[in-house]
Amino acid sequence: MSKMNTDAGMPIAITLDPGTYLRCTCGKSRQLPFCDGAHSGSSSQPVQFTLDERRKVFLCSCGKTATMPFCDGRCGVDVEQL
Ligand code: FES
Repeated sequence: MSKMNTDAGMPIAITLDPGTYLRCTCGKSRQLPFCDGAHSGSSSQPVQFTLDERRKVFLCSCGKTATMPFCDGRCGVDVEQL
């Protein structure tokens, strides 16, 4: 069960270096939007993703996307236009 802010309706734009990341889905992390292990003991699990090159990504913050952890526009935001 995700505790993402379904009212937010905005992706998080962030430029990341190559590497593997864990996107927090419980909302308890002190290092949002990334996991810091605060979900421990709950049913929430972070979503892992890997980038092969430095690039700007749009992380879903509404929880509606079908391409977690990335925004797919279901929030109403056209990330192609950002
Ligand atoms: S922020 Fe969730 S689909 Fe865009």
